[in-house]
Amino acid sequence: MIVSMKEILIKAKTEKYAVAAYNVNNLEWAKFILEACNDSKSPAILEFSEGAINYIGGYNVAVSIVKSLIKDLNISIPVAIHLDHGQSFESCKKAIEAGFTSVMIDASSLPIEENIKLTKQVTEYAHKNKVSVEAEIGTIGGKDINISYANINDCQKLLSEANIDFLAPALGTVHGLYHGKPHIEFSRAKEISEKLNIPLVLHGGTGIPDEMLLESINCGICKININTELQVKWSKEVRKYLKDNNDVYDPRKIIKSGEKAIKEAVIQKNKLLGSAGKAL
Ligand code: 13P
Repeated sequence: MIVSMKEILIKAKTEKYAVAAYNVNNLEWAKFILEACNDSKSPAILEFSEGAINYIGGYNVAVSIVKSLIKDLNISIPVAIHLDHGQSFESCKKAIEAGFTSVMIDASSLPIEENIKLTKQVTEYAHKNKVSVEAEIGTIGGKDINISYANINDCQKLLSEANIDFLAPALGTVHGLYHGKPHIEFSRAKEISEKLNIPLVLHGGTGIPDEMLLESINCGICKININTELQVKWSKEVRKYLKDNNDVYDPRKIIKSGEKAIKEAVIQKNKLLGSAGKAL
């Protein structure tokens, strides 16, 4: 059943667990993730970046893939379809028109007043369509991108003026693989959570030790974004399969060779974060 992400995350906040949001790269990934979440009886958040949306063909394709899989595979858990790092009002509007139930507007590279203005434009349109909105403050790190921690006053201003549903504050995590030990500003997360009282989102979930993920939930994190971890695990298995079976050319066999690794990772993560069993 397709639901709003708000429904999933308010329950997570109240019951103090987190739901992983898995980035989807193609039809098979959506299928593997949905089946694994269904087996875990965990609510599912399937998120698509603009890059992934372009890759698969468009916003309508993303929604159709998820809806069709839910129907044909008899998936019975609540599922939210989320736009990850929407870069413009137009992108969020296209996602909403196609049937995404949640969008992220990432205006974090703009000065705070402009971030608020653009985010507000998105929330006004999204809420009219019963779609929830995630926004970002500060800079989440990444390849050639330096971290800039979320300013608490900016977070409060963004919530009060733009009426967002969830916030991704930059807390020290990075997108992609870590070089060195991850660092999360837990006290900052806790303070933001207490002042804003809305579900917080942790980006860059790959490579963060389990105990740090659990501590982040104690500090108000309700959604943890995971992309690279599944890509690394899947590609490792596919490489091995191709090496061991160098006469295979059926793409179904090649892609499927990474299915088990994805499913095991999803089931383990849902259990760790406490979302397993919550879809009952
Ligand atoms: P990772 O690729 O580091 O898991 O981050 C995913 C993410 O935050 C998507 O927005």
